[in-house]
Amino acid sequence: MAASSRFSLAAARCSLRLLTAALVLLALSHGAHSHGAALSSSFYDGSCPGTRDIVRRVIQDARVADARIPASLIRLHFHDCFVNGCDGSLLLNDDLRVGITTEKNVLANNRSARGFNVVDDIKRALENACPGIVSCADILALAAEISVELAGGPSWSVPLGRRDATTTTNIESANNLPSPFDPLKTLQEKFRNLGLDDTDLVALQGAHTFGRTQCQFTQRNCTAGQRAGALLNLDGVTPDVLDNKYYGSLLQGRAQLPSDQVMLSDPSQRQPPRRSSAGSPVTRMTFLETSRRRWSRWGT
Ligand code: HEM
Ligand SMILES: *[C@@H]1O[C@H](CO)[C@@H](O)[C@H](O)[C@H]1NC(C)=O
Ligand SMILES: *[C@@H]1O[C@H](CO)[C@@H](O)[C@H](O)[C@H]1NC(C)=O
Repeated sequence: MAASSRFSLAAARCSLRLLTAALVLLALSHGAHSHGAALSSSFYDGSCPGTRDIVRRVIQDARVADARIPASLIRLHFHDCFVNGCDGSLLLNDDLRVGITTEKNVLANNRSARGFNVVDDIKRALENACPGIVSCADILALAAEISVELAGGPSWSVPLGRRDATTTTNIESANNLPSPFDPLKTLQEKFRNLGLDDTDLVALQGAHTFGRTQCQFTQRNCTAGQRAGALLNLDGVTPDVLDNKYYGSLLQGRAQLPSDQVMLSDPSQRQPPRRSSAGSPVTRMTFLETSRRRWSRWGT
């Protein structure tokens, strides 16, 4: 409860900042429309009814050439929301005239965050259909929602109607994105700062059920002769499917990232993954349901 009120606060702060911000049109953030703070999954039903279909089509096309794309897109949404709320600021490039230092080069993103070209394609397709309507922050949120669905995860409708940041980025906060080498206490603290509790942490880390990691970030830190940037599947069992296999590997000590494995170092953290990894349909649903609820709340 405390969490959801802090979320609305974050959203409010975001629009407030935008109201006072000088209007600068940047390549990726055209939508200078004003509207109330209330988010709703039907936000674009009147102004751009094809929004969901357009986003889905572009992601589906991209996925044909690159199976990793849904994972990469979810991660972008995460890295956007973690820094000053979901305001699309991750997409901004350096613009010194207006004091923007891009978040794309911070440690957690540099040579790591990817999928920006697909976001550009989605933006272009939406601009063709409905110029100046759909915010970039909403594109990231929708892309995450649809990526989960395409990867076989639960479907849900993210609330929409976010405003884009146009003049501010927050490098300090972007530098504070979680590191794969953070101890559990630090991860918990970073999530708590956003109103996310331990259950949220466990559920959200479940996103590591698909996508890739460079071996330099893994528990093994590469094998002999491997380049630091060599790619490994985050989930060795079903690399491109959003399911709960990740939790099985975690319980066997075989999650790729130290930051995944460290969740088991606290006895109080053992319960959720243990329960959801048992494999029965009921416990599977518990994980998926938890994720769905957590993910949709987090997305606002
Ligand atoms: C708890 C803190 C987290 C840490 C320390 C962390 C760290 C990482 C690291 C190091 C990688 C590999 C990046 C690379 O090799 O370039 C990665 C990939 C990924 N992360 Fe996380 N992550 C965290 C939470 C999350 C959350 C909350 C989500 C989404 C809800 C997420 C989604 C992903 C996905 C989907 C990938 C694969 C991306 C791709 O293949 O392009 N992560 N994460
Ligand atoms: C990004 O990574 C590359 C290669 O690791 C490095 O040369 C570059 O300095 C990094 N950029 C920033 C801003 O840290
Ligand atoms: C990974 O291994 C490389 C090469 O041995 C080393 O330079 C680097 O510090 C290691 N990274 C971690 C996080 O241990």
